[in-house]
Amino acid sequence: MIIAVDGPAASGKGTIARALARHYGLPHMDTGLLYRAAALNLLRMGLEPESEFAAARACDIDQIDLGDPDLRSEAAGSVASRISAFPLVRQALIERQRHFAALPGGAVLDGRDIGTVIAPNAQAKLFVTATDEVRARRRWEELRAAGLDARLEDVLADIRARDQRDSARSAAPLRPAEDAERIDTSTLPVEAAIAAAIAAVERRRPSA
Ligand code: DC
Repeated sequence: MIIAVDGPAASGKGTIARALARHYGLPHMDTGLLYRAAALNLLRMGLEPESEFAAARACDIDQIDLGDPDLRSEAAGSVASRISAFPLVRQALIERQRHFAALPGGAVLDGRDIGTVIAPNAQAKLFVTATDEVRARRRWEELRAAGLDARLEDVLADIRARDQRDSARSAAPLRPAEDAERIDTSTLPVEAAIAAAIAAVERRRPSA
């Protein structure tokens, strides 16, 4: 079974995808990490994020350790959002995502375009959302817990800018697949969000 989990930044899609992978014993790929790895590569190579060709060169990400804590930085996230609008970047990263989705036994992938582009054939598709304010507060609390000083209003502005870029781009924009089930995590405790996700997958699961 392929499970596609899409949604905007800090919606809870990563937490839900990891929990689903544990629950169903499936491998999980956080596809945002690939875009972040390309972004980090680009920053380290000193290349221009405005150039599609430079960004495409940075997609040779084999030398980036996907556990590198710098991948989680706001800088990497922001550059990732910018370069992910380039068709050449999406093209360069599509193969490893499709390969992962095609693993025998299935997989869980989370991102922005899993249900629409990477795995339109996924049996279960979730689109995870939460209000801008809730997502900004979550991100802000994560930053503070990591000892970083940030203003809530700056984090909110950043989240909104990122949503705007991710949704307005013409290449694989962030949008729910027609057959996706929506889960709004704004007022849901983590355990309730996970339970709602499992219930949604169960409704779609091919009967054994
Ligand atoms: O989920 P994230 O914040 O780690 O993703 C970082 C950026 O990567 C996000 O702003 C847009 C891009 N991305 C994408 O375009 N498609 C995906 N499937 C995953 C991420």
